[in-house]
Amino acid sequence: MVSRRAVIASAVGVSAVTALAACAPQAEVQPGATESEAPAQNASAAVEVCKTTDIPVGSGKKFDVSGTPILITHPSQDVFRAFSAVCTHAGFVMSNVSNSEIVCDNHGAVYNADDGSVIKGPAQRALGKITVEVQGDAVLVSF
Ligand code: FES
Repeated sequence: MVSRRAVIASAVGVSAVTALAACAPQAEVQPGATESEAPAQNASAAVEVCKTTDIPVGSGKKFDVSGTPILITHPSQDVFRAFSAVCTHAGFVMSNVSNSEIVCDNHGAVYNADDGSVIKGPAQRALGKITVEVQGDAVLVSF
């Protein structure tokens, strides 16, 4: 049996948590700026990973950026993409990219090197996308 005192203490606890959540700091927006113009929190600077000439059209390469394995692919002329190199099936770190496909050498999953979608299982989920940009001849990522 729950005592009346326990019910009241529980209700007070829930109210206190609700009040604290309402007081949590919000992202700072400068006066006159819309929320989308506010500086992004946790955004990191772009990091140069390689040169455009390092990756022929249709291929890709694995890089480690701050300890994170990523794949830079070049699926068509002037188009570069970046994905997590970790296979979504069982976590194997992939490096095999050819013919605009990313192949997991562990169990044979195949991903599209343009959008990271699964072409062939056993993987069921697409690769995580990473923001990539080209500045001059440099390929940069940010995440
Ligand atoms: S770990 Fe990639 S297909 Fe199994």
